[in-house]
Amino acid sequence: MKQTPFQRKLIVCAALAALGLSVIGVQVSRAAAKPEKDSDITVIMKKAFKGSKTKPSLVKKAQDGQASPEELKSLLEYTQQLQKTKPPKGEVKDWDERNTGMVAAVELLVKGDKAGGAALKTSADCKACHKLHQPE
Ligand code: HEC
Repeated sequence: MKQTPFQRKLIVCAALAALGLSVIGVQVSRAAAKPEKDSDITVIMKKAFKGSKTKPSLVKKAQDGQASPEELKSLLEYTQQLQKTKPPKGEVKDWDERNTGMVAAVELLVKGDKAGGAALKTSADCKACHKLHQPE
């Protein structure tokens, strides 16, 4: 069958459209895969645990008795959310104990009990927990 110029144009268009769709497809699947890596734990780490010299984290402020009542409330929510997660690595029992300890410490602080600061220093041990539970 001999193609007219119009038919040829249609074929080229269809081919380009298919190509375009597949490119979009690849981008969509990439975008969909990303949040999986950013686990709930990673998000909580970034929002409540990770700080710097100029901007201390919620955890650090709470440990030092510098957190406002609002900050303590939001930290309590973060630690409670963390408590509901499963560790990506290591023993669930150890994970649960660490998280229960942090929630209990922040609860003390929310109630105005200063002993919570020291309790949070012991329970929120960054290095110990990462060593056991952070995947490579
Ligand atoms: C109860 C255990 C636990 C404690 C305590 C803990 N972390 Fe983590 N943290 C984790 C786990 C598990 C991951 C890895 C999450 C993943 O990859 O899914 C992580 C990841 C991180 C990350 C990497 C986030 C990213 O960008 O990928 C940072 C930063 C971090 N933690 C900071 C801290 C700091 C600072 C402290 C102490 C104040 C702390 N964490 C205390 C369990 C903990």
